[in-house]
Order: sequence, then C-alpha cells, then structure tokens
Amino acid sequence: MPDGKLVAQNRRHTRFSDCKEMIHTVNELVAKNEIAPSTFQIFVRAPEIARKREAGQFVVLRVHGPGERFPLTIVSSDPDEGTIELIFQAVGKSTEILAAHRVGDSILDLVGPLGNPTEIHDYGRCVVIGGGYGMAPVIPIAQALRDAGNTLIGINGARSRENVILEDRLREICERVEVCTDDGSYGRKGFVTDALRDIIEAGEQIDMVLAVGPTPMMRAIADLTREYEIKTIVSLNPIMVDGTGMCGGCRVEVGGETKFACVDGPEFDGHLVDFEMLMKRQKMYDHLVSDGSRQYTCQLREAKNNG
Ligand SMILES: Cc1cc2nc3c(=O)[nH]c(=O)nc-3n(C[C@H](O)[C@H](O)[C@H](O)COP(=O)(O)OP(=O)(O)OC[C@H]3O[C@@H](n4cnc5c(N)ncnc54)[C@H](O)[C@@H]3O)c2cc1C
Ligand code: FES
Repeated sequence: MPDGKLVAQNRRHTRFSDCKEMIHTVNELVAKNEIAPSTFQIFVRAPEIARKREAGQFVVLRVHGPGERFPLTIVSSDPDEGTIELIFQAVGKSTEILAAHRVGDSILDLVGPLGNPTEIHDYGRCVVIGGGYGMAPVIPIAQALRDAGNTLIGINGARSRENVILEDRLREICERVEVCTDDGSYGRKGFVTDALRDIIEAGEQIDMVLAVGPTPMMRAIADLTREYEIKTIVSLNPIMVDGTGMCGGCRVEVGGETKFACVDGPEFDGHLVDFEMLMKRQKMYDHLVSDGSRQYTCQLREAKNNG
C-alpha cells in the first residue's frame, strides 16, 4: 500500500534532554463553554505553546497541589491571541477540577507542546474517525490532512445525540460526514466500524484511515482495515504522567518493540499495536486513577517495575 507523498515530516523526539522545546507558562482560562454534558471547550493563554504547536501534539496539565499530571490534545491555537484550545470530558478527579475552573482562573501547571506532530502525507482519500473525546484530537489532524490535499470522509461516533461533539467542525473539513450513535438517537444506529465497513464495501477507494477514541474502538477499526490492507493510524491513550519519556507509564508494544507513547507517538501504525497489552496495562492502573490521594509517579514506577 503506497504511503503517498510526504508533505510534512517533523517528528520530534522530546526526550528529557530535549526539553528546551517545552515551555512552562502562567495559564489563564480566557474562555470556557460546555459543548455537551460534562464536555468542555476551554481557551488557555499559553503564547509560546500556541506559537509552536503542530497537529497531533498535546499538553500535560496539573490542576491541584501535588496531584497527578494528565494529557490533553491541543485542538487548535491562535498564535496572535497567544491561546490554545482544549476540549475534554470531565471523567475523574483532575478533569472535574479543570471543569470547575472559571474564566480568569489559572491552570497550576501546563507543559507542552509534547508528542510528535502528525506525519502529514498526501495519501489521497482518507477516512477520519473519532469516538467520544477522540473527536478532539481528530479535528487538528483532519485539518492538516485536508490542507495537504487529501479528500476526507468523517465518521463521528458517540453514545447518544447529546454526546456528539464537533460535528460542524468536522463537516467543514470533510467532503461528507457520518454520525453514529450507540442508541440510534441521532444519525446511524451502531458503531463507527459499521459505517466504515459500509464505506469500504461500497467499493470507495480508501487510502488511509485515522482513528482516535477508546482503545477497543481503535482495535476494532485496525482489525477491520487489516482485512482490506488499508493503512491505519491510531492515536494511543495509555496513562501518561511526565510526558517526557522518564516514567515509563505510557509504555506500549508496537511491531514487537517497546515504545513510549509520549515521545515515540502518540500516533502509531494501528496494525502493529499490541492492543491486548495496552488494555491490560490500562486496567493495571485502574486502582491508581480512582484513588484521589494517589502518589502518582511513584506508584506508576512501582507498577512498571512489577509489570
Ligand atoms: C495523548 C493523550 C491525549 C488525550 N487527549 C484528550 C483530550 O483531548 N480530551 C479528553 O477529554 N481526554 C484526552 N485524553 C484522556 C485524558 O488524559 C483522561 O481523560 C484524563 O487523564 C482523566 O483524568 P482524571 O483524573 O479526570 O480521571 P481518572 O479518574 O484519574 O481516570 C479516568 C480515566 O482516564 C484515563 N486517565 C487517567 N489518568 C490518565 C493519565 N495521566 N494519562 C492518560 N489517561 C489517563 C484512564 O483511562 C482512566 O481510567 C488524552 C489522553 C492521552 C494519552
Ligand atoms: S508519560 Fe511517557 S514515559 Fe512517562
């Protein structure tokens, strides 16, 4: 399967020794909207990050005392205004604290841009798929793919109508968009894989599939596209702590090799990812993420040494 013409390649390995790239800023919330139940769009003043970020990159935030660090994708930036856009679901302690921030409040700690920018190729015709919060990372990548000359079909998956996010923005970028809801309350009833299978089986030429969302969704998409030998890129979401390759929390197996998603990814060839291991490791940390008083990094180191 041809990879298409390479339009931009700027993979950067943000090992700790390269941390000149990372900037700490005083990070004021300048706007906030609830765009779906428990799903928030915020704009944060972070001029240096706004200037440097590229599609596919993320920031690591800390929002309380000695608390945990957690990653969020940079959805867009406005270098003139010096702001970045983040979209997140409030699913646990840290994201709930962030959701309680008001315009004018500052985020305690914000580091980035982290991760490798997406490799943008002129593939031809691509399908971009976001499930749940995964639509947030899909938007900047889809935009960059389109700017590079690709034609895009979008698939936007959610549990139900009220959870569908960013549909308008996806429609602006894509030639057409299919919305799938698990309960059929909006768009097509069913999973994103059903929509993708129909597109492939209708005989449309598809040169690349990009998928971001829950791990089982990305695994199901990779299994489907493997059957048809369609190049597939996934953006992995293991537990990340430092985001600089130091803690080992985000260790994944890709093509039989150990990779750290924060510095080697977060995007990988979906056909080479060991999803079984990724899901096992995500479960391994469940008792840590549900404990609000955790000593995150130390426990992750301990878990890593044992696992
Ligand atoms: C590269 C990357 C980009 C991401 N971008 C977004 C985004 O744009 N929008 C969005 O809503 N979410 C995004 N996430 C997921 C987000 O980081 C988690 O939802 C968040 O960390 C939850 O933390 P919590 O304390 O609120 O919830 P917790 O109760 O601590 O955890 C809830 C679930 O969130 C996940 N999680 C918890 N801590 C971490 C962590 N440190 N690193 C990774 N996952 C964690 C686990 O699956 C956990 O089961 C991204 C994850 C990664 C790896
Ligand atoms: S988050 Fe990747 S090594 Fe720590």
